[in-house]
This record gives sequence, C-alpha cells and structure tokens, in this order.
Amino acid sequence: PSRRWQLSVQRLSLALLVVQNSVLVMVMHHSRNTPTGKHPRYLASTAVLLVEVIKLLASLALATHDACRTHAPSAVAAHLFRTIFAPDCWKLIVPAALYTLQNSLVYTAISNLDPVAFQVTYQLKILTTVLFSILLLGRSISLRQWLALVLLTSGVALVQVGGPLGLNPDDWLERIASLLRAGALPTSSAFKGVMAVVAASLTSGLTCVYFEKLVKDSLGSVSLWTRNVQLSFFSLFPALFVGVVWQDGAAIAKHGFFAGYNPVVWLTIALQALGGLIVAVCIAYADNVAKNFAASLSIVVSYAATALMYRTPMTLPATAGASIVLLAMYMFNGRPAPRMVLLPISQER
Ligand code: C5P
Repeated sequence: PSRRWQLSVQRLSLALLVVQNSVLVMVMHHSRNTPTGKHPRYLASTAVLLVEVIKLLASLALATHDACRTHAPSAVAAHLFRTIFAPDCWKLIVPAALYTLQNSLVYTAISNLDPVAFQVTYQLKILTTVLFSILLLGRSISLRQWLALVLLTSGVALVQVGGPLGLNPDDWLERIASLLRAGALPTSSAFKGVMAVVAASLTSGLTCVYFEKLVKDSLGSVSLWTRNVQLSFFSLFPALFVGVVWQDGAAIAKHGFFAGYNPVVWLTIALQALGGLIVAVCIAYADNVAKNFAASLSIVVSYAATALMYRTPMTLPATAGASIVLLAMYMFNGRPAPRMVLLPISQER
C-alpha cells in the first residue's frame, strides 16, 4: 500500500473511532439500564461472547480477502489455516484473556455508574497506556507531552462534569453532603463500578500495548487481520467457558441465552464489534496513544453535538475543558506531520 493510502487509513480509522466511541457509551448505558419489565436484563457474558464471534467472522472475511489477492482460490484455505495456527499463535492467548476480562469489567462499570462518571474515570487508561508504552515499547515521552497528557485528562474531566450531561456544582455539593450524612462511604454499587473502571483501565493499557508490540514486531510477515482472527479465536474460550458457562451458566439454563435481548442490545453488540475492528486498525496504522486521543476527542464531539442538537446551553467549565482537550492534542503532537507507521498490511509470507 502506498504511503498516502496508509495515511488516509490512519486518519479515517481515528475519525471513525471518535464517532463509534461517542455513540457506544450512550447506547450501552441505555441497554443496561432500561427497565425490562418482568423479563430479566440481558447477560453481559452473552454479549461479550457474541461480540467475539462477530469480530472473528469479520476478521476471517478480511483475512480471506487479503489471501485471495496473493493465492490461487484452491490454496486460500490451506494458507489461512497455516498462518492462523502458525507456531507463534499462542502469543495471542494472553491479550485474548485480558481483553475478555476488560470487556466484562466495562459492562460491570457501566451497569454501576452513570455514563459521565464512567467516561471520566476510564480516562485513566490514557495514563496507563503511556506507562506501558514506556515500559514495553521503550517509547520516550517528553516533558511537554507529559504536560499534554495531564491537560488532556483534566480537560476531559471538565467536559464530562461541566457538560449538559454532567453534574452541575449544586449536584456535586448535594451528593457530597448526602454521602457525609450516610456515613461518608460511597454506595457499594458505585464503589464496585469505580473498581471495575480502574481495573479495566489497567488491562486496557497493558493489553493494547502488548497487541501493538506483537503486530508491529511481525510487521510484513503476519497481517493485521490474521492477528485479529487469532485474538478473537482465543477470546472465545474465556468468553464461553468463564463468562457464559461458569459465571452465568445457571441463569442461562433458566432463562435462555437470548433472554432480555432487544434491538438496543443488538445495536450495542454491533457497535462494540465494529469498535474492536476500528481499534485494531488504529493500533496498527497509528498507535495506542493516538487511539486514546481519538477516544478523548469523542467526548468533546459528544458535548458539542448534544449542545447543537438539543440546544442545551454550553457551560463555561465544559467549554473550557473542550478547549483544553484540543490544546493538549496540539501540544502532544506538536510536529508538522502526523506520526506515521508504515505497515505492509497484507504481505504475508
Ligand atoms: O478501551 P480500549 O481502547 O482499551 O478498548 C479496546 C477494545 O478493542 C476492547 O474491547 C478490545 O476487545 C477491542 N480490540 C479488538 N481487537 C483488537 C484490539 C482491541 O477487538 N485487535
């Protein structure tokens, strides 16, 4: 692929991630918190499994498409089997297990926190990702970039807390006062949610960086989609045996696998699967830090879109937060040309 084409893919994937992220959190929260009447709520473990199945099929289709360009139709199946189950495929077992854990932690978090609190706390992954990039990829971060990261995290928090979907200062005071009255400890559900986000942020940083290292180390010999097929394949086992069978086996036996499913649940699953594929492209064509910047920008985009669509007033803290996010992006990438990683995506040996 030409450099210009790769640059377009890089930008397009980051832009798509901005849109996907903005929509997903709202839809997912809605899917977990809409009253289901006398029916039980859908089980997160079944959704996590279905997302992996969809990603596996989609990645397999893309890997097949790549293989068709370099191999005769009769040799495609054998080639795919050989590359997917290559001797180093076991390396995907660790990220597969960690991503499955992370995906179910995100469900726990979103079920126990409001979307604003979730988004703010999940920004922790910006810092964990940078830390793991330094530790595992040997990347170095300048002082200006550290400052940009701190600004980014605070800017996002300001947009979230001060925006139309956020809490106004009176609510904060009211909340703190009621917590103090109730004995100063957060409710167990909020505590569970926060713990889940912190754990998800740690796994996100570690796993994304590990996956980036794996993809970029085998640059040119194993395609991104082959790596993704391996990742989804190994994710099926923990998703099925730990999530569906061990954790929720009894509930599924009683109510059925698809109990509580409705169009919003299916939309959540589709958006998550799509998000996974977009994240994979972002990691391969740009990097994890850029991926997280895109996720942060999505918060600013949701803020502006909500203000425009619903004519909600733009508050001073949220607008200042949005400006800080944009400034942080400029500070972090303060180079004339965007970072560029050349990845010969479909040149398998
Ligand atoms: O929040 P974060 O950016 O860490 O989320 C990454 C998401 O992308 C996870 O849900 C993970 O399952 C998904 N992913 C994927 N394929 C990859 C890399 C990540 O589906 N190659």
